This record gives sequence, C-alpha cells and structure tokens, in this order.
Amino acid sequence: MSALRIGPYTLPNSLILAPMAGVTDGPFRQLCRRLGAGLVVSEMVTSDVRLWNTRKSSLRLPHEGDPEPRSVQIAGGDPQMLAEAARRNVELGAQIIDINMGCPAKKVCNKAAGSALLKDEPLVREILQAVVAAVDVPVTLKIRTGWDRQNKNGIEVAKIAEQAGIVALAVHGRTRADLYTGEAEYDSIAAIKQAVSIPVFANGDIDSPEKAKAVLAATGADALLIGRAAQGRPWIFREIEHYLRTGEKLPTPSLTEVECILLEHLAALHAFYGDLMGVRIARKHVGWYLATLPGAREFRAQFNRLDSTDAQCANVREFFGERHNDGEGVAA
Ligand SMILES: Cc1cc2nc3c(=O)[nH]c(=O)nc-3n(C[C@H](O)[C@H](O)[C@H](O)COP(=O)(O)O)c2cc1C
Repeated sequence: MSALRIGPYTLPNSLILAPMAGVTDGPFRQLCRRLGAGLVVSEMVTSDVRLWNTRKSSLRLPHEGDPEPRSVQIAGGDPQMLAEAARRNVELGAQIIDINMGCPAKKVCNKAAGSALLKDEPLVREILQAVVAAVDVPVTLKIRTGWDRQNKNGIEVAKIAEQAGIVALAVHGRTRADLYTGEAEYDSIAAIKQAVSIPVFANGDIDSPEKAKAVLAATGADALLIGRAAQGRPWIFREIEHYLRTGEKLPTPSLTEVECILLEHLAALHAFYGDLMGVRIARKHVGWYLATLPGAREFRAQFNRLDSTDAQCANVREFFGERHNDGEGVAA
C-alpha cells in the first residue's frame, strides 16, 4: 500500500479505525492510534447543534489531545444543518469531516439519516455539496453498497460524491437492508473503486492480517476500515500493518502487555467520562478484551457488579495475576 493522502494529510499507513458509536470515543481512538492505526474517526455527532450541549454529544466533539488529523463524523439528513455542524466542528478543531451515510442504526434512520439517505440521490448530492462548500477541510463520506440488494446504487453515489468534491470514500460491503447479517461482499466495493478516481476504503468483516490482505486484493482499495475486530483488540492495527509490510505475522501480545493496555484503557475511560459513567462504559470494553481468555465469563459476571474505578482496576489486576501464575498465554 502506498502512503495514503487525505487532503493535506499524509497518513502513516492505510489502516483506519471505523467510526462506532459508543465505542470509538477519545480514549479508544488514542489507544488504536498508538497501536498502529493510521487514522481514527470519531463516533458520529448529530448534525443538530442544539443537542450539542448534552453531556453525551459534548463528549463526542473534538477534544484537545485527540490524535491528528482529527476526523469527526457527522450524521443527519438536512443539508444546511449538516453544513452548520461541519463548520462548528471545524471551529472546534476537526481537521477532516466525515459524513455518515453508512449506518443503519434506527435512531439515525428514523430521521432519514445515515444509510437511509442512499435512497435519495438528489438529496445525497445536495448534502455533499453543502458540506463541502461550508468548510475548507477535506470531507470524506461513508456509505454502504446501496439501499438494498435490488437497489445497489453505490456506484452512482460514489460518482455523485466525487463530483461534489468528496476526497475519499469508505464503503461497507453490505446494503442498508443487510444490517450486519451475512458476509460482507467485496465485489461491489471493487466495482465502486473502478468507477471513481478518489481513494476508496474497504470495510466489513476484516478481522485478521490475512483477511486484510485478501480484501485489499479483492477490492483494489486504497485503505481498510476496521471496526468490530478492534474491540478489545486495539493491537490488530499493528498486526495487520506488520503483515502487509513484511508478509510475516507478529506474535500475539503477551498477557503482561494485554494487562498493561487494558489498565491504561481503563484509566483513560475513568478520566474521560468521570467515575460514574466511566465505570459503566469500561464494562463492555473489559468484556471484549477478556472474551477469549479462560474464566472470562465468570469474571465478567462479577466485574459488572463493581461500581468503583479502584475496584475495577484491582479486579483486572487480580484476574491477570492469577493467569500469570498459571503461565497462561493469550489466545487472540
Ligand atoms: C457498535 C457499532 C457502532 C457503529 N457506529 C457507527 C457510526 O457511528 N457511524 C458509522 O458510519 N458507522 C458505524 N458503525 C458501522 C461501522 O463503522 C462499520 O461500518 C461496520 O461495523 C462494519 O465494519 P466491521 O465489520 O469492521 O465492524 C457502527 C458499528 C458498530 C458495531
């Protein structure tokens, strides 16, 4: 893979953390970046700026210390509101604006946003033109391959995006109607890549170095967007990067390293969200990290009842302490 450029930014590699609401918050983005992601994208921020003073939304806006270039994703269905949201995010420090037309979440789709927009090509054009005109930073777009299998209009949308001045396009290899079922398919991504000359990022079910290599070969994509496989495994980026560069696989991280990364992640979550919310958000991440380790289920049940930051950290240390003594390794 050659170096990837997005507007004025040259990324260290072509592996991107996919935006995931409720997951890719500031702490997780920093961790993924440190462990090998070339770019990380924020959780989606609503385009309704009146809602930005809620705690949930304000935590999703750009923050000092976010890894650069700071890519912030916006979601909504109204061109002028999206343009305003883009402008305001840039004022707050966003360096790339990403528009969400790829997410099937009900909350977004009820308002005809996210991937529901793919159905209405004139509106897609209007939104993209309005956002591109509103800001002087690069604007990227995330789509699915179409509305449903009978209406796979990803190629048309990609061409509209290119004409509107979108600088790069991420494509999840499913239609909106597929939700997350079945296997992501890469032929449609390959066809979209062929149809436009802006960089195309392939997305969907990339969960190992070998799969990453296969998806690059199948799609001809310029970069890969990785979502769920990074949950509890933020080091997947360095594993893929190493494999693509050398053809060799890195050893799985030692238990000691996993413990260090998890404790660092916990501390960052507690600091970012505050004790109450931090403890709650930490539960799912801890579950993901430990999912493949023996005894994780029992541990998780009692861990989820803990309600203080200190108890969470002590408990994780104890879990790893017992396994260090047993000499167990990590099954990644
Ligand atoms: C929990 C969760 C939250 C997501 N939130 C968003 C989002 O805010 N914006 C978006 O464009 N896609 C969102 N997605 C979709 C992902 O970015 C990605 O396209 C999808 O998970 C497929 O990639 P993967 O197989 O690597 O996970 C979300 C996915 C998950 C699982």
